[in-house]
Amino acid sequence: MAYELIEVRTEAGKVGVITLNRPKQLNALNNQLMDELGQAMKGFDADPAIGCMVITGSEKAFAAGADIGAMATYTFADVYKGDYITRNWETIRSVRKPVIAAVSGFALGGGCELAMMCDFIIAADNAKFGQPEIKLGIIPGAGGTQRLPRAVGKAKAMDMALTGRMMDAAEAERAGLVSRVVPLDKLMEETLGAALQICEYSQIAVLAAKESVNRAFEGSLSDGVMFERRMFHALFATQDQKEGMDAFVNKRKPAFRHE
Ligand code: HXC
Repeated sequence: MAYELIEVRTEAGKVGVITLNRPKQLNALNNQLMDELGQAMKGFDADPAIGCMVITGSEKAFAAGADIGAMATYTFADVYKGDYITRNWETIRSVRKPVIAAVSGFALGGGCELAMMCDFIIAADNAKFGQPEIKLGIIPGAGGTQRLPRAVGKAKAMDMALTGRMMDAAEAERAGLVSRVVPLDKLMEETLGAALQICEYSQIAVLAAKESVNRAFEGSLSDGVMFERRMFHALFATQDQKEGMDAFVNKRKPAFRHE
């Protein structure tokens, strides 16, 4: 598939990097862009050479939300029957390999939701997060009212969803929305460093860690703890566990073979 609204490349043959590329519209997310993003992510997820993915935007905008011009004339019947705007978002959630959002500039509405759907967010110091849908007479539609309170707590999530105000990078880090804040000119270096580090580890353990952390958001504590315990036990059936522990004991660098 030829991509028009995203750019796709690999870093060191291991990290799948997707850059949203609709700069004039501040990377506003339309159906075509979301289809392309879903396609690219499925491709990287299926590619055995790829260990981790990164989604990023431009300096000014990660994504300023769903495309308001495209949505403006939609009726309920259009969006419900055609699954417009909301289609293809589940693809992002369904990929098994880790996905890091490298956010600079605006991450608003669907852009904030896209970033939150990734496994973690590394933010440039100019990043701004918000769910301003309320100003348009709608509410977030891709998980914003659910993931934001889980990330930053009810008080800030309500504040943002009801007033539409933005959170800067420093507040987002204090509140737990982002894992790290770095200078803008170091954003890709830092993010690719994290992604390449993940690629070094046993892919089986990486997938198990992602699945287990996600359990914390989707079930009860006791179910999550039980799931984690079983995954932990299961990893002792891998060669990578033998390799990782033998390497530690013998003071050498492990060479994981993802088996
Ligand atoms: C379409 C958009 C856009 C958007 C910006 N643009 N955001 N086009 N959809 N979400 C366009 C502008 O119309 C403008 O086009 C160009 O990008 C540059 O934007 P400006 O407004 O001139 O830039 P600036 O003054 O710097 O302001 C930046 C901004 C503002 C604060 C980000 O653009 C803004 O408030 N955008 C809307 C943010 C928003 O409400 N997002 C939520 C959307 S609803 P022209 O042609 O004039 O140059 C949503 C629902 C999610 O996301 C549902 C998911 C399922």
